[in-house]
Amino acid sequence: MPRRVTLSLGFAGGTRDVAVVIPDDEPTPWQFGERFTVVGAAMPRIDGPLKAAGAAKYSYDIDLPGMLYGAILRSPYPHARVKNVDFSRASRLSGVRTLLRRDEEVVRFAGQEVAAVAAISPEVASDALALIKVDYEPMPFVVDMEEALRPSAPHVFASGSNEAEAKLAGTGNVAAGFEQAAVTHEAVYTTPVQAHVCLETHGAVAKWDGDELTLWCSSQGIFTVRDDLAVFFSLPPEKVRVITAYLGGGFGSKLGAGAELVIAAQLARDAGAPVKLMLSRAEEHVATGNRPSSWQRVRLGADSAGKLIAVDLLEHGTGGVGGGAGSGRPYHAIYHFPNLRTEEHDVYTNAGPSAPMRAPGWPQGLFALELAMDEMARKLKLDRLEFRRRNNTNPVRAFEFELGARAFKWDEKSRAPKSAGPLKRGVGVAGAGWHGSSSPGPQAEVAVYRDGRVVVRTGTQDIGTGTRTILAMVAAEELGLPLERVNAEIGDTRFLYSVPSGGSQTAPSNTPAVRQAAVHLKEKLFRLAAPMIGAEPGDLEARDGTIRVRFEPARAVKFGDVCRRIAGDSLSAQGEHVPNYEGFLPDQAGCQFVEVEVDVETGIARVLNVVAVHDAGQIIDPLTARSQVYGGVIMGVGYALMEERRLDPQTGLMLNPTMDDYKLPGPLDVPEISVAFVDVANGINNTGVLGLGEAANVATAAAIGCAVYDAIGVPVRALPITPDKVLAALGKA
Ligand code: MOS
Repeated sequence: MPRRVTLSLGFAGGTRDVAVVIPDDEPTPWQFGERFTVVGAAMPRIDGPLKAAGAAKYSYDIDLPGMLYGAILRSPYPHARVKNVDFSRASRLSGVRTLLRRDEEVVRFAGQEVAAVAAISPEVASDALALIKVDYEPMPFVVDMEEALRPSAPHVFASGSNEAEAKLAGTGNVAAGFEQAAVTHEAVYTTPVQAHVCLETHGAVAKWDGDELTLWCSSQGIFTVRDDLAVFFSLPPEKVRVITAYLGGGFGSKLGAGAELVIAAQLARDAGAPVKLMLSRAEEHVATGNRPSSWQRVRLGADSAGKLIAVDLLEHGTGGVGGGAGSGRPYHAIYHFPNLRTEEHDVYTNAGPSAPMRAPGWPQGLFALELAMDEMARKLKLDRLEFRRRNNTNPVRAFEFELGARAFKWDEKSRAPKSAGPLKRGVGVAGAGWHGSSSPGPQAEVAVYRDGRVVVRTGTQDIGTGTRTILAMVAAEELGLPLERVNAEIGDTRFLYSVPSGGSQTAPSNTPAVRQAAVHLKEKLFRLAAPMIGAEPGDLEARDGTIRVRFEPARAVKFGDVCRRIAGDSLSAQGEHVPNYEGFLPDQAGCQFVEVEVDVETGIARVLNVVAVHDAGQIIDPLTARSQVYGGVIMGVGYALMEERRLDPQTGLMLNPTMDDYKLPGPLDVPEISVAFVDVANGINNTGVLGLGEAANVATAAAIGCAVYDAIGVPVRALPITPDKVLAALGKA
């Protein structure tokens, strides 16, 4: 029977009661002010020591007897017909076990897969690639977005235009809004193609046993990879096992089976031996995805009271041969504009395909929107934070603006006179947010063994955020145990189903399933414990390592003593994440304040400090949550100041496919980062957890752009904000 429960939802700025109906076996959602013992305490990652000691096995660390090494031959041309692939010399090389030709007749970017080899060593594999003779017929190509839009440009796809159909969204009447506007602003903002730069490259070790495939791969969606491969090889999904015990980042680029995973499995099948195929850094840069670029013409119209009444975006972006550019989404999500129109166009170019990347579209959109808002605020002679307050309707973000402004000392810093010397300081603020909550479907098992060990098992994967730790914490909380008695095993499709770690949905999708399983397991343990203390199972609670009568803590039995009564080896229970019920707000908010220092003689901008204020419903582990925000901010510093994929217009090749030439923040570029979380009792699911990974990243580059504008008095409207652009903006180029 479904139950009706009343939840008190909200935050320090106000709460309200909401009645929700939840399934019978769904635990009552954690409530505002819930007394926790494990949840909410800062816990180091339970797998931290394994990682620090090098004992955690990543896909690259998997070595199997008789294993071969795979390598991929990639097109040196950005657009070409593959007329012939001649394996005759390569096949005669000693140590080559199998060669594979890809089906594509036309390659559309430099770096696209053409052929592959499996050999007894990486060196032989690489020698074999050099012996494969491919007869290419080069075709006209275009790697620049503006060029691609010219009527005379070569077509990336024979079937049609390089410009995809517009994606339109909006509310109100923008033309009417502009007619009423007292002040307007219009400018063009651009953002570059950004590479994911996962520390661990894409790749796999593939092994066949008869018609059963096992793949150890670097994936943020093991079940998606399983299903992709099952379709590719026409196998029932249960014949494919995918294992990602540890994963060195994904950021959206590892959601499904890319070409390299399919090739690894094909080579292993053809060679009749396991194959390891991990990509090099250069391959990672050209072929595994990227954040599309953007060109955004932003028009703003405000009334004299500082309310934006008309906002219009025209956007073009290129994800190479992939779609998914578009930066309009945050225009609809952070502030409230009564008349809003966004028009987005994908533009195809002969470059590696885009992939989702940490809040697809948001960092690009917010950079343009927030900097345009600062330019408008200057025209309105309005404090930039005050301008944002007037256009924000989200109560949580309003609260966060105040909290952040105090921590950052906004009033003081934003009014400080500029230094007379060459080092100019500036401050900026931007709103954060994300629409991710969770997906139903994940299931989890919690098992307890006779020796008292508890293990959580579910087929999620830890993209690097601390998933193992928070899942174990939820089970420990529910079972009244310290965290060290609970372990979590994840990253294997032999475990119960879970969703891909994308859209910031991992924590809010999996913690409710684990909690439900832990509650079911607890009920079984209560039935074992009840006769031991002469009580009814319904009167018991699990606390402090005991099972005891509620309100009579003296009538208790040790958790371990109950476990010794387990008849077999273990006791286990399952749980699932049921569809979300009503919550306080469907989205999370957030904001970030940034201080920069710009040297107006060299043009070098440095980020000095960042105050990041975020909410993610119930924070399970403040330590790993904080670490996610650090990562988001650091990634935003790179996007703002350094990162850009450069393609050579003459050859179509990527000019900076290394970690030296593709600039990334190093330790000295990392600012001081203060993180504050606002507790929000959010409802939605039984743990009240919302995602955080994407919200933590979206505002940083925008706030840095605003701070640079404040520092030097002129806007740099193109990311990355490199010294040449700063000097050009200052008229010193
Ligand atoms: Mo994310 S871009 O959904 O991994």
